[in-house]
Amino acid sequence: MSHKLLIANWKMNHVDLDCVRFMEEFIPKFSAKREAWIAPQALHFNLVRSMGEMKGIRVGVQNVSENSFGAFTGETSAKSLRAMGGHFAIVGHSERRQFFGETSKICALKIRTCLREGLAAVYCVGETLAQREAKLTLAVISDQLLQGLNDIISPTVDKLIIAYEPVWAIGTGKTATPAQAQEVHAFIRSVLKERFPGLGEHIKILYGGSVKPDNVEELLSQKDIDGGLVGGASLKAQDFLALCGDK
Ligand code: 13P
Repeated sequence: MSHKLLIANWKMNHVDLDCVRFMEEFIPKFSAKREAWIAPQALHFNLVRSMGEMKGIRVGVQNVSENSFGAFTGETSAKSLRAMGGHFAIVGHSERRQFFGETSKICALKIRTCLREGLAAVYCVGETLAQREAKLTLAVISDQLLQGLNDIISPTVDKLIIAYEPVWAIGTGKTATPAQAQEVHAFIRSVLKERFPGLGEHIKILYGGSVKPDNVEELLSQKDIDGGLVGGASLKAQDFLALCGDK
């Protein structure tokens, strides 16, 4: 059985000293019984990477350009990130979709660029509350998956990760119940198996949305939940340690 994976999405939080303090507290107690990846602000990527590497902590970014290089002011290059030891990029987070107009079609280009440059892509999908109430959850997820993965032919299994993040559960304190999450994860698994025969069952599917130390074990015990993508509770070293199984 492969290790559960916890990814910290620090969003636009922490100044550099906060990152240093976090890593100084986290590193000595982290046992690696679960895998831990961190996505700090891009500005802090190298700082966190250099502190985390002795414990095998992988570091990445929260967003990446679909272009490898060129005249794209303000963007982050997957090629440059890989050259600096970056491991992954989050693609299509709901905050990118909501505030920056990112569509699943743009996500498809970004995923393709990540895979071409050797980065793992953590592709986020999830429905809004209105969509859930209108019973559109599975249709929305299916659409996001098929569009986002449109160009991908046969990914290496450890370079593609799906994160199911119901928008109504992000930063709200409302978690999907383990059964609600498992239902969608099982559906995602079935789409992946159909889309990538022989590979789909091995692609990691993470749950995100108010994951905390007191609900993580039950969520991770679900059959198709391979880990978590965590915002708020990843900002404090003690909480992220607890999520990683190191109390
Ligand atoms: P919270 O854990 O703060 O709900 O955020 C989830 C998230 O958006 C992780 O990408």
